[in-house]
Amino acid sequence: MSSEDSQRRTIRSLSVGKGTVVFPGFDGGAEWGGPAVDPQTATIYINANEMAWIASLAETQNTSDAKALFSKQCAVCHGDTLAGSPPAIPALKTSAAGSL
Ligand code: HEC
Repeated sequence: MSSEDSQRRTIRSLSVGKGTVVFPGFDGGAEWGGPAVDPQTATIYINANEMAWIASLAETQNTSDAKALFSKQCAVCHGDTLAGSPPAIPALKTSAAGSL
């Protein structure tokens, strides 16, 4: 891999209040439509999205209160007890490092 390639592959974290170009964007890469194959030409066609996004982070409040953050941002899908709604929304397991 050339140094130019490795520069392009660098993963940069997003910044608070400062836009970072993300390419491909969060909806980038191969699309859900799935590929098609032409066996006569041995060609595979993949519908791909190559739109760049500009993303940044924003300050939040109560970030030190994990339980409040979970209730506000996650419980609507995963439930207050982490039970989720399998199979569509998985139950979340707590780690040895902590629990909600
Ligand atoms: C809009 C609904 C929704 C919200 C809100 C949501 N999730 Fe999820 N989450 C999902 C779904 C659906 C999946 C399964 C995705 C998949 O299998 O591709 C998932 C998967 C996960 C997984 C992977 C679980 C596994 O066993 O693979 C984790 C961890 C997770 N979510 C954490 C969170 C956290 C933390 C938040 C809040 C910051 C959150 N989620 C908010 C719907 C949601």
